[in-house]
Amino acid sequence: MRVGVLGAMPEEVAAVIGMLGPAGRTHAGGRDYARGTHAGHEVVAVHSRIGKVAAASAAVELIVRFGVEQVVFTGLAGGLCRGLRVGDIVVGDGLVQHDMDASPLFPALEVPLTGCSRFGTTPAIAHRLEAGARATLGALGEGFLRELGVNGGRRPAVRRGVIATGDRFIAGAESREGVLRLVPDALCVEMEGAAVAQVCQEYGMPFGIIRMISDGADETAAADFASALGRVAGGFAAAVVARYLESLPA
Ligand code: ADE
Repeated sequence: MRVGVLGAMPEEVAAVIGMLGPAGRTHAGGRDYARGTHAGHEVVAVHSRIGKVAAASAAVELIVRFGVEQVVFTGLAGGLCRGLRVGDIVVGDGLVQHDMDASPLFPALEVPLTGCSRFGTTPAIAHRLEAGARATLGALGEGFLRELGVNGGRRPAVRRGVIATGDRFIAGAESREGVLRLVPDALCVEMEGAAVAQVCQEYGMPFGIIRMISDGADETAAADFASALGRVAGGFAAAVVARYLESLPA
């Protein structure tokens, strides 16, 4: 299997690349694509940069230039519901572009001329990512949980559900409530997932996404995000991608 792995931040993808066997590199469209192997599977990993356009272009390259057979996105997200805390993990079942609004031409949230306001993920990939996340939390152990610190000492939870995506870093009650008004069942918010989901749907490409909660999309979100990025994002991304690849059939 050839798997495309995307992350928005260099820290996350560098850790994934570090875990792969000897990798070749290709520079295309302003990005470096690293090729390698793990558990008998080929991987093409790329740091997309932040935002929907960046993530969509990187996803198209993975599919068209590198011929990946599935796409997996890993990264951080802001938590939107009270039950979710920093360190918890969300595996996406559906994704919505919360900032898409071409009304009155099309219903708000609908991506014009696709008839879609919600993009799905591939159930088998979501299932393996969820299992990989649980195994990762077990394997990373106490040191990792201590690094998360702010999680009140409780073991992180793994949840499945809806992810809201938009070209905006959400860092305050008003914008957080705004996202929730539009996508009431969203568990978390980020800036790439639904764009990659749209590309994958258009190309008939299996797709999965996993996000660790880095912040509460509130007034301290920027500092919390930077802290999670520095301390745990790389370790999490590498471990969960490794577990995922190890779970794939040969
Ligand atoms: N990614 C991580 N935290 C986020 C936030 N609060 N808003 C948007 N994207 C994020």
